[in-house]
Amino acid sequence: MSKRTIVTMPGDGIGRIVLEETLRILDAAGFSADYVNADIGWECWKTEGNPLPDRTIELLAKHKIGLFGAITSKPKEEAAEELDPSLQGKGLVYSSPIVGLRQHFNLDVCIRPCRTYKGNPLNFIRRGPDNTVEEPEINVVIFRQNTEGLYSGVEWSDPPDNVYEALLSHPKFLKNFSRVPKDELSVSTRIFTRKATERILKAAFEYARQYRYRSVTVCEKPNVIRETSGLMFRLAKEIQQSSFPEIELWNTNIDAQMMWLTKNPEDYGVIVAGNMFGDIVSDGFAGLIGGLGFACSANIGEEVAVFEPTHGSAPKYADYPVSIVNPIAMVESACLMLDHLGENDSSARIRSAIGRVVSHGEARTYDMLKLPGRPDVLEKGAASTAEMAEAIIEAL
Ligand code: NAI
Ligand code: MG
Repeated sequence: MSKRTIVTMPGDGIGRIVLEETLRILDAAGFSADYVNADIGWECWKTEGNPLPDRTIELLAKHKIGLFGAITSKPKEEAAEELDPSLQGKGLVYSSPIVGLRQHFNLDVCIRPCRTYKGNPLNFIRRGPDNTVEEPEINVVIFRQNTEGLYSGVEWSDPPDNVYEALLSHPKFLKNFSRVPKDELSVSTRIFTRKATERILKAAFEYARQYRYRSVTVCEKPNVIRETSGLMFRLAKEIQQSSFPEIELWNTNIDAQMMWLTKNPEDYGVIVAGNMFGDIVSDGFAGLIGGLGFACSANIGEEVAVFEPTHGSAPKYADYPVSIVNPIAMVESACLMLDHLGENDSSARIRSAIGRVVSHGEARTYDMLKLPGRPDVLEKGAASTAEMAEAIIEAL
């Protein structure tokens, strides 16, 4: 069988570091692939005026699977100033290449698992009866719709006349906003399509079936946001009844869910939500299992899939002589890639190696020791990025 090719996109800052360590671990786990490097991020923006070059898009279109580190984004004005002088004044506008990738390849299904590793000092704990301490074991997988909703970019300040007319046609707009001067109005739309909503719901239910989760929870706000959240909840009921009767369908409101997060996080299994609420609830659960050093994600479309840690490029840590950041979020993202490729044995082996390293406690990056992220953490006993990777490789 010919080897598969994976497009690696290290990007900026610590993205470059954690991706390199992750490839060593994939190798040690016996996963064999050809890797082709693709440019993305801030350097591309500065020198080419495009953080997502066409050649990167072409490589992904050809090979279908991407492993992405992280990129640096900066506000519009700063971005314009850092452009190479030869590119300035040409009207180039910076936009995030990872959002660009999700949109270009319609990577509409985002999966963000949040699972407790026993013995992680960052695990959420709770006081139980008689002052006992409980450490709930969390095993939640969030399915976030990745391309629509409040992130679709359909928005205006001082909306054009035709948009304003359309808004006036809604009785509630007429009653509550028609006396507001038009140039004092900002509108961001929340668009859900039936197709994408069905896709994220079906992906969530299928995952629940494949990995034997008892329940799928729709985490939206259908009592208030009746059209979009309402659509998701209605479709969820239809899909559950027609195709997944063995899986329970639960319904929580995003606000209440964030409150219950610390009360009974162990009760949830698969959670599914629109783009914004999915982003919120996944960060909430990630905080209970160790935060950014542990939070991984998959962005899956019909053809192409890209796997990435949730964290960014953490520029202030990027140039330390010895890197101190935690590679586990990137390694876990690569495990999601292995699951996607049907290499479940390799991903299970890597996860159990991480589990042994975390519970054993000999190698702990600075975040796990709750130290401020300075170079001197290494003298205080923290493992470097490479030492953590090495410990995982040894456990393998
Ligand atoms: P960030 O995630 O890069 O870092 C925030 C803080 O989290 C760090 O200062 C560090 O304390 C901690 N942290 C992050 N990754 C860690 C790891 N692997 N191990 C241990 N600690 C870790 O977010 P920030 O500082 O808001 O953004 C920095 C840059 O990254 C910005 O330019 C931002 O636009 C970009 N960004 C890119 C993302 C992506 O590529 N998908 C996502 C989020 C931010
Ligand atoms: Mg986020």
